[in-house]
Amino acid sequence: MSILLDTRYTSDFIKKSEWDAMQSRVTEAHNTLHNHTGLGSDMLGWLDLPTTYDRDELDKVCTVAQKIQEDSDALIVVGIGGSYLGTRAAIELLKTNFYNSTNKTTPDIHFVGNSMSAFDLEQTMRLCQGKRISINVISKSGTTLESAMAFRMMRQFLIDEVGEEEARKRIYVTTDRTQGVLKALADKEGYETFIIPANVGGRYSVLTAVGMLPVAVAGCDIFSILKGAANAAFELQDPDIYANPCYRYAAGRHILMNKGRSVEVLVNSEPRFTQFGEWWRQLFAESEGKNGKGLFPISSIFTSELHSVGQFIQQGSPILFETAVMYKAPANDLRMTSLEGNFDKLNYLDGKSFHNINNTALISALMAHADGGTPSMLITVPAADEENLGYLFYFFEKACAISSYMLGVNPFDQPGVEGYKYNVFALLGRPGFEARLRELKRILK
Ligand code: PA5
Repeated sequence: MSILLDTRYTSDFIKKSEWDAMQSRVTEAHNTLHNHTGLGSDMLGWLDLPTTYDRDELDKVCTVAQKIQEDSDALIVVGIGGSYLGTRAAIELLKTNFYNSTNKTTPDIHFVGNSMSAFDLEQTMRLCQGKRISINVISKSGTTLESAMAFRMMRQFLIDEVGEEEARKRIYVTTDRTQGVLKALADKEGYETFIIPANVGGRYSVLTAVGMLPVAVAGCDIFSILKGAANAAFELQDPDIYANPCYRYAAGRHILMNKGRSVEVLVNSEPRFTQFGEWWRQLFAESEGKNGKGLFPISSIFTSELHSVGQFIQQGSPILFETAVMYKAPANDLRMTSLEGNFDKLNYLDGKSFHNINNTALISALMAHADGGTPSMLITVPAADEENLGYLFYFFEKACAISSYMLGVNPFDQPGVEGYKYNVFALLGRPGFEARLRELKRILK
């Protein structure tokens, strides 16, 4: 197994007997998941996706990605939540977090529709003025307000730039196979469409066309991503928590939660991992955070944050634990140069690898945090490449489903997200929400 879980930084916090006691609950969650007998069992399409994905759809992804690479300077990805976070994570991790600023042969990728900010939308339009653009609008429901508003604006922007006929050839819609207003619009206008399978929810959809089309446009090898995910699907099936790092991680989270830790911090030492942290946060927050349960997920990039929140992690309220992801091999490395005279007193680092120094700092922090009373689990990954990213996506998806079943919640719904939508539709005057508007007006008086 290429991805390993190291639990030594929990040894002062979790006894062997406590790990052993989790086995029966993990086995039960494993059976529930694999026998499709749990809550939301109609949403398990992601479980076998890396091996059962639609080959024709993937061929179309490759063909269209190549077309966009040839005829576009920029691809605008319109989507929110699970309809963009994994895509952005993959591009930043596999390429660079400076992707749009680098000298490259692939199109820029801009993300809109992930907020209601007029500022961001307007800035993106400015950046795209006079450029050859394509749009990939991604929404499973087709009704999400943020992405629908942004799409309406970007679509008009494109039509104003190139005319209706050409715009039709530059708009790609990723949505449900048959349902929704976006599907209806795509059919009416003749836009090329990609499918989000009905049994795959937004936050579990990165390995479908949702992620694969824009990621392929950015020049990443999507077949290797899927291969890594397929390896994970194959390797992470053993219910034994000592043999399966994914299940051991899920078990560790539960033990620590039961000991009063309510916040999990996902740690990495590379700024280009930041967006992966955002994808991971949504996955766990929306899947577990219901019925008054769940760990609050946050993410943190070391060593920057050791100089901001490190103090709290070391000595603050004992509410959190860390899960660190460490890459063994560097994507790029530098070696410290020597300085004659050693004026900065750094010659003890002469010739040393930055990557190794960075990893040493991570381990040092985990050890210090354990001394201070904060436990952590360490996931080591061979490299930040396509195969390992695919593996990691699947690893966390499965860990999240198992954790949610252990908590007794449905990992695949998000009823709480509807609350704010209900109010915003009423306050903005959407037909059908008049009663709620009257209630809100009474409260606002
Ligand atoms: O995980 C989920 O289902 C959500 O986060 C959705 O991805 C998000 O709300 C966007 O929904 P849609 O793709 O329907 O626009």
